[in-house]
Amino acid sequence: MNSMINIALPKGRLGEKAYALLKNSGYDCPAIEEPGRKLIFENPKKGVRYFWVKPSDVAIYVERGAADMGIVGKDILLEYEPDVYELLDLHMGKCRMAVAGKKDFRDPVGQTLKVATKFPNITRNYYSGKCRDIDIIHLNGSIELAPILGLSHVIVDIVETGTTLRENDLTVYEEIVPISARLIANIASYQFKDGEINAIRNGLLQQVEDKL
Ligand code: PRP
Repeated sequence: MNSMINIALPKGRLGEKAYALLKNSGYDCPAIEEPGRKLIFENPKKGVRYFWVKPSDVAIYVERGAADMGIVGKDILLEYEPDVYELLDLHMGKCRMAVAGKKDFRDPVGQTLKVATKFPNITRNYYSGKCRDIDIIHLNGSIELAPILGLSHVIVDIVETGTTLRENDLTVYEEIVPISARLIANIASYQFKDGEINAIRNGLLQQVEDKL
């Protein structure tokens, strides 16, 4: 499996956009464009093998060397802090990590703040920087329900269009960090396959710069 560059793509719209950039850089793989449930595709002539991976798992594949490179949201890098190289900001998949709550939310000063989130590490780091005592409620989805049902005071979550917050009568109180998709590489792969990895990075960089 090791003579090719193995690239973990996040399943979904971001992964499809990332593949389009790779294809335009010359790393096409026609089989990936055919409908079906296959997860792994290769183009031996171009020396690339792609896998569709759950977005939150991309960094695990890259950190452990099952993939040489991957495309992953900055949110995942901040949350799991994987030991990988971050090679490029792709300026796509843009959103922000924010604190949100009900419109009538008032910080219960002096009490522990209950915060629901899918991102406990980002949440812990953010509030420890503010010296605010919090209780993290770790949920896996539909985080917006938590303040509505009284499970938490606020949430820390991804805001992209703001539609989910708006439609649930919630609002942003604090912005934590802007998020976008990043190109990452395995540390050992970057030593041994640096020529191939840099060629792919430079192809993507060119297109990112053209679009800026
Ligand atoms: C994410 C996030 C918000 C929503 C924000 O959820 O957790 O709920 O998208 O997007 P918006 O600002 O454009 O409305 P996701 O779709 O991943 O589903 P989940 O609730 O199952 O995590």
